[in-house]
Amino acid sequence: MKIVNVVGARPNFVKMSPLIREMLRHPTIVPTLVHTGQHYDDAMSARFFAELEIPAPDHNLGVGSGSHAIQTAQVMQRLEPLLTSVRPDLVLAVGDVNSTLAAAITAVKLGLPLVHVEAGLRSFDRAMPEEINRLLTDAVADLLFVTEEDARVNLLREGVAPAKIHFVGNVMVDALLAFKPRWEASPILDRLPLDGKRYAVLTLHRPTNVDDPDTLNELLGALQEIGRHLPIVFPVHPRVRPRLALGASASNRGLVCLPPLGYLDFVALMSRARLVLTDSGGVQEETTMLGVPCLTLRDNTERPVTVSHGTNRVIGTRPQRIVEEALRVLDDPPRPVAPPPLWDGRAAQRIVRILLGQGSDPAPGTPESVAHAPLLSGRGA
Ligand code: UD1
Ligand code: UDP
Repeated sequence: MKIVNVVGARPNFVKMSPLIREMLRHPTIVPTLVHTGQHYDDAMSARFFAELEIPAPDHNLGVGSGSHAIQTAQVMQRLEPLLTSVRPDLVLAVGDVNSTLAAAITAVKLGLPLVHVEAGLRSFDRAMPEEINRLLTDAVADLLFVTEEDARVNLLREGVAPAKIHFVGNVMVDALLAFKPRWEASPILDRLPLDGKRYAVLTLHRPTNVDDPDTLNELLGALQEIGRHLPIVFPVHPRVRPRLALGASASNRGLVCLPPLGYLDFVALMSRARLVLTDSGGVQEETTMLGVPCLTLRDNTERPVTVSHGTNRVIGTRPQRIVEEALRVLDDPPRPVAPPPLWDGRAAQRIVRILLGQGSDPAPGTPESVAHAPLLSGRGA
């Protein structure tokens, strides 16, 4: 079975790590890995391949940055001849970035079966580029692997045939669990000027939060206020870097700004934080597993299970509310609960079994479907 796997951006690499490792355990599967080049800085790409033991890509399409249309079109243009020559049995795409959508359209127009891992998530906010990518990819996918029950419901509502949908758990959680001994050994805390104090972690990269200087400055103002109570460590996404350089320095606002961190350092940092403030999708899921309080600086989430089963609260972007919620969480942290169903480190295994025609969804109530205890108990530094 020839499978072409397509990745392009930082969260894709994390999700691909357990999948490709599982594929390589099966001699009947011949995986090809295609990196579109959407993310290309060492700190956003190569470092993840090294730390997460992802084999070097067989092909790098080198598309780089650009407008949505240019980036998507270039992936399609460069992927089409490759798929035509490889003629895989399946094309597999993860997540919701432009590379995901481009791979999906290219594959199905060549008549190749498309597998979407992390299907069905919906924010119901079409101003998010990712929502468009998710809707369109799911509309053409042949096999849709979902991380939570809500995602299955969304797909059924959109008319996807039930037989195409499989609830398998979360490959991002597979990576988190598989690499636990490595991130636990990260020396990141010794390298930061925190002096053993409690701290918060911040990530921001959604266009609605960071592209407009006034919006970004308002957010940073609220964070500065929180920064009076505890230091906030802020690994800065490259999308935000030029905006910080242009505007007021975030370091003057009580934030410890760093370049984007490698996966092991970043997870280690989150795992010992008192609080995580974020607009990332993956970080909402990881904090749920780590049992660390998460405040999502958005008006919605496509991952409601992190609220119903996790430590996540979706609090919007009004500065006053952000400060109030942060102080409340610091005062009275939510208790970690059992993680969401099937977030147990075996999603990739289930996916590959289904691809090979050897398995089906675990029945509710079987040992496979029972949630495991949280990784950590939400302790602070
Ligand atoms: C992309 C995804 C987003 C995902 C995020 C993960 C889309 C539409 N967006 O957003 O869903 O949550 O990745 O991090 O696919 N840049 C660099 N170096 C890099 C990569 C990007 O400097 O290695 C800068 C460039 O100025 C680029 C900007 O970041 O224009 C934005 O990159 P892009 O990939 O277009 O979108 P992200 O904001 O990273
Ligand atoms: N991440 C990282 N270093 C950082 C910030 C995030 O390794 O400095 C990891 C994080 O642990 C998660 C993934 O990147 O595994 C999430 O990617 P991102 O927030 O860029 O994208 P999203 O999940 O929002 O699409």
